[in-house]
Amino acid sequence: MASSIDVALLVGSLRKESLNRKLAMEVATLGLPTLTLDLVEIGTLPLYNQDLDASPPGEWSRFRDRIRAADAVLFVTPEYNRSVPGALKNALDVGSRPYGKNAWDGKPAAIVSVSPGAIGGFGANHHLRQSLVFLNMPAMQQPEAYIGNAATLFDAQNKLNNDATRDFLSLFLRNFAGWIASNSRRQPEPRPARAMQERSV
Ligand code: FNR
Repeated sequence: MASSIDVALLVGSLRKESLNRKLAMEVATLGLPTLTLDLVEIGTLPLYNQDLDASPPGEWSRFRDRIRAADAVLFVTPEYNRSVPGALKNALDVGSRPYGKNAWDGKPAAIVSVSPGAIGGFGANHHLRQSLVFLNMPAMQQPEAYIGNAATLFDAQNKLNNDATRDFLSLFLRNFAGWIASNSRRQPEPRPARAMQERSV
């Protein structure tokens, strides 16, 4: 692995003033020398449609190539209706296909959920974990990151306004670096049950 670990940073919100985007940008500047966090945009990905697998849109191909090149993935996401926003789910689906060419395969992952509410996007965080199991992405369990009351966390320059959150996110990143080191580039064993799973979904 290269000395700096390439982490694809995916934000589940598309809006300009997104709290998730602000927090993701702050995480990216927390400055672990071993991790390079690179924002990968998902807002222009056409909706996944299996009919297009034979001749995929360029946006899909570029996105799949970018994910395939990454050493790991960090998801920062809001909760929509107690689940994952459609744009992020679409990105997961696009990256997972065509069948047998799952770009996410084996990439260590971590999740930060961010909400102005008190529960901190717990539902989205755990629904996302469910998809990562099927995508064969080892997802860091601890520390969990449910960032609640997020509308109060930023100053006028969109910088974090408190040391406790910054310290927690630094701890989270340090743990993620360790998680990546111990789970990187896992090549899955051939899975004979896959055909059966495929039929059942
Ligand atoms: C929300 N919001 C929301 N919040 C939450 O904590 N749990 C939820 O289930 C939902 N559901 C939901 C659905 C939809 C369609 C929208 C647009 C919003 C509120 C959400 O957390 C809030 O708008 C955040 O600010 C969204 O994140 P960004 O865009 O600020 O990153």
